Amino acid sequence: MNLIKSPTAGKLSSKLMVSFLLCASAVTLRLRAEPAVPVVQIQADKVTAKMPPTFYGLMTEEINYSYEGGLYGELIRNRAFKASTNEAKFWSTVGSAVIALDPATPLNDALNTSLKLDAAQASKSSPAAIANGGYWGIPVRPKSTYKISFFAKAAAGFNGPLTASLESADGKTVFARAEISGLTGDWKKFETTLTTKSVKASKDNILKLTTTEPGTIWFQQVSLFPPTFKDRPNGDRADISQLLADAQPKFLRFPGGNYVEGDNFKERFNWKKMVGPLEQRPGHRSCWGYWSTDGFGLPEFLGWCEDIGMEPVLAVFAGYTLKHDYVPAGEKLEPYVQEALEEIEYVTGDAATTKWGAQRAQDGHPAPLKLHYVEIGNEDWFDRSGSYDGRFAQFYDAIKAKYPQLQIIATAPVKSRTADVIDEHFYKSEEDMESQAFLYDSRDRGEKTKIFVGEWATRVGSPTPNLAGALGDAAWMCCLERNADIVLMHCYAPLFVNVSDLGAGRSMQWKSDLIGYDALTSYGSPSYYAQKIFSLHQGDEVLATAAQNLPVYQWQQPGKRRNGVEQPAVTREVKSLFYSAMRDSRSGKIIVKIVNRADAAQTVKIEISGVQSVAAKGTATVLKADNRDATNSLDQPKKVVPVTEKTSGLGASFTRTFPPCSITILELDSK
Ligand code: AHR
Repeated sequence: MNLIKSPTAGKLSSKLMVSFLLCASAVTLRLRAEPAVPVVQIQADKVTAKMPPTFYGLMTEEINYSYEGGLYGELIRNRAFKASTNEAKFWSTVGSAVIALDPATPLNDALNTSLKLDAAQASKSSPAAIANGGYWGIPVRPKSTYKISFFAKAAAGFNGPLTASLESADGKTVFARAEISGLTGDWKKFETTLTTKSVKASKDNILKLTTTEPGTIWFQQVSLFPPTFKDRPNGDRADISQLLADAQPKFLRFPGGNYVEGDNFKERFNWKKMVGPLEQRPGHRSCWGYWSTDGFGLPEFLGWCEDIGMEPVLAVFAGYTLKHDYVPAGEKLEPYVQEALEEIEYVTGDAATTKWGAQRAQDGHPAPLKLHYVEIGNEDWFDRSGSYDGRFAQFYDAIKAKYPQLQIIATAPVKSRTADVIDEHFYKSEEDMESQAFLYDSRDRGEKTKIFVGEWATRVGSPTPNLAGALGDAAWMCCLERNADIVLMHCYAPLFVNVSDLGAGRSMQWKSDLIGYDALTSYGSPSYYAQKIFSLHQGDEVLATAAQNLPVYQWQQPGKRRNGVEQPAVTREVKSLFYSAMRDSRSGKIIVKIVNRADAAQTVKIEISGVQSVAAKGTATVLKADNRDATNSLDQPKKVVPVTEKTSGLGASFTRTFPPCSITILELDSK
């Protein structure tokens, strides 16, 4: 028992002594039966860390239809007809229309096929059309303007206009339509808008391109965009962006994750094929099993950073793929190192004096972005060949030589160089996450390499985590905050899931994701709200904390498999109360976070030393629910959300009862 550090410890023990002497055995029995009140002490005059400026951030990659069918505004699925080489996947016909992929009539080398519409039988009484139902629907909102564009050409003899229409899938309602004419024998880009009236928002809709004139028409890059966040051209979905902006993340780790590596070299994140005009981007199959048009490419990641106010944390391809192919350090790796240097130039280079800075400006981002961190690869601890150390060193030396100011993140321990930062990943059950919620408190402070927790999540609940997940997350975030002297940044993963068609290989490839959506609406999970309240209540100084009498629960930790043999389960004692404390030095506010993961309310004594006074009145932000399985969904997006209220009974030393399964953030005014 550690009572020495506690100012109340002496008081408690002398009180106990008096009770003991006065009341003898009956009282003693009662005292033995009742657990001691947990005490959390905060030393306001001892700052253990300045909060790193980019502590809370986002991690992202193309998984679970994160961009295509997610954040990226594009509403047409398989707009470039490259999702399959056998058929025009996700496209259908209406009337007498016959469609086929036509690789003999490409738009260009990148979009090297097209959709051929044979409308020989089309007439006014029997129109022929192609239709697309989007990513599990096309959202239609009232009084909204959609931008439609496509490349098209027609065989000689076609005289008609085309009609573009936004319709309900059953064909009963036409929300908006526009005529497009002027098709010739050469590829031309056509653009127009479709504006809806005061209709009810819906998602079971299609885009149709119709002809009532007979002929043959070829299409490529058929695109439909709703209004986007901050009206950015080729921009992002507004509702999802708003959820992100509300949580005020400070950095974006992109583009992965496994997505940066790819299953093989052809499918890696090849950024040079993801810049420039959209029709020059060939697209690629990504490691999560579906086609990416790469309309959401490197410039779009930068636009996302600009829109939300995040700094990029750029992960570069490091010559290793998910199928364990790798390029060893040396001459053969050099092209990839050069590619990484050029990618850094694309992000940070001057638009007037550097080649890739100029390309970025052409792509709509004239100002260079601030960049402090570059990550070499992803999860290279999977590389059992031992090649990472050498590969890392080659990237490290080249990047440091050209950009000495950059901090280099390793994804696995290295010996040949001292990495500035190491990226550590944790995907855990609630109990497991809570059992490691003091992990970094005992980390060696002499290590030069700082920590980036670049992927972590308490994986409870699907498709999105429930309150139990949020409790594990909050316990873990208390650990990260307490240790902000060595933990520079962290981000939850994965960020997004399209919940339209759940299950492996459909719209979800990975369970327990922070934000869920379908074509029309989106919601934040309880874990999202835990992130949000932690991010919004940060302060800039971490205060020293200690605790006594923390309550515990017993956890049957499932046995791990070792050498192919199942090990027996072990019973572990896990703490059920977690804490961290910070101060906002500008306002003097002390911010105390308490997580009570137990199913019962918990009374806690909080003692703050090193301040003249703490006001009795303050603010409490609480995230809780009736039970730990409670969750949010498309139907009930706000079932578990934080509530902020004025509160009283605070002070330099006070006792407060924290509700069952709750995350509480107290803001205290101190002098
Ligand atoms: O977040 C999902 C995956 O988990 C990431 O792509 C990978 O880095 C990790 O293994």
